[in-house]
Amino acid sequence: MTKMTILITGANGQLGQCFRELAAGYPAWRFLYVDINELDITNRRAVFSFFEKNAVQWCINCAAYAAVDKAESEPELARKVNVAGAKNLAAACARQDIPIIHFSTDYVYHGRQNAPFREDDPVSPKGVYARTKLAGDRAVLKANPLGMVIRTSWLYSLYGQNFLRTMLRLGAERPSIGVVFDQVGTPTYAPDLAAAVLQIVQKVENKAVERASIAGVWHYSNEGVTSWYDFARAIFELKNLPCRVNAIESKDFPTPVERPPYSVLNKAKIKAAFGLEIPWWRESLEGCLR
Ligand SMILES: NC(=O)c1ccc[n+]([C@@H]2O[C@H](COP(=O)([O-])OP(=O)(O)OC[C@H]3O[C@@H](n4cnc5c(N)ncnc54)[C@H](OP(=O)(O)O)[C@@H]3O)[C@@H](O)[C@H]2O)c1
Repeated sequence: MTKMTILITGANGQLGQCFRELAAGYPAWRFLYVDINELDITNRRAVFSFFEKNAVQWCINCAAYAAVDKAESEPELARKVNVAGAKNLAAACARQDIPIIHFSTDYVYHGRQNAPFREDDPVSPKGVYARTKLAGDRAVLKANPLGMVIRTSWLYSLYGQNFLRTMLRLGAERPSIGVVFDQVGTPTYAPDLAAAVLQIVQKVENKAVERASIAGVWHYSNEGVTSWYDFARAIFELKNLPCRVNAIESKDFPTPVERPPYSVLNKAKIKAAFGLEIPWWRESLEGCLR
């Protein structure tokens, strides 16, 4: 019997590598990994031809232009990858009746509220990255009736470029560091997100949930709320790094793109629909650093 095949695009990125790590736990499935050298998602013809040549049952799209500040100076490339690329994949999948799981960001919300954002809350993205991600979400949902868009926040892991890895480097180099305490959200351990996605695929394959029920926008982050300052302190505490963390305001750490002051995501919908148990951010951080 041929195994069910899950295509992971952008497979060399942070989240892509987390899927590679978890794949061994799903021996009944075949995972096909591609990154830009094997499949450039902005090449529409190549994307359609890929799905004609390869029998794939699921597509998990980890490919993205994810450099928030750099996107300001490369808006065309960010748009090409995050909007056109996402649309190409979703449309090529739709033609073969393949569900696509696509990832998006908490930065599409920029409200001044202090209650967790729900999937149907108004969006107000600031900057090229957030705007292109939002346009990509809409393109995926429009192109594919089996399009699942999962918005996540503050992704970190031992792979790629992320806040945890920056803090581990700076914490070993410097006696003190300033970190903002007026941006509040939830760190998400990328392997937790990848594991949740594979659980969702399994539920669909086991027919515990309807295939069509995955469609739409969903939120996933770890549980709890913190600031970048508290996140940095937790990292240094768990790693016994003597680096002192000074709490600073965002106005004293200007970046090309202003970050949302509050971007906590409400995850009630994904927990209820798929019976997910989501770990608390601090427990996942401890697991990551152990
Ligand atoms: N990182 C976060 O804090 C965060 C927060 C919320 C949501 N997200 C979302 O989560 C998803 C995964 O993020 P991540 O941190 O894993 O990003 P990442 O590490 O930058 O991985 C993205 C991967 O896509 C590849 N790629 C770029 N252009 C491509 C193209 N045209 N065709 C095929 N592959 C291409 C990249 O290759 P190169 O490295 O060679 O460019 C990289 O391997 C993204 O959708 C991101 O927007 C991330």
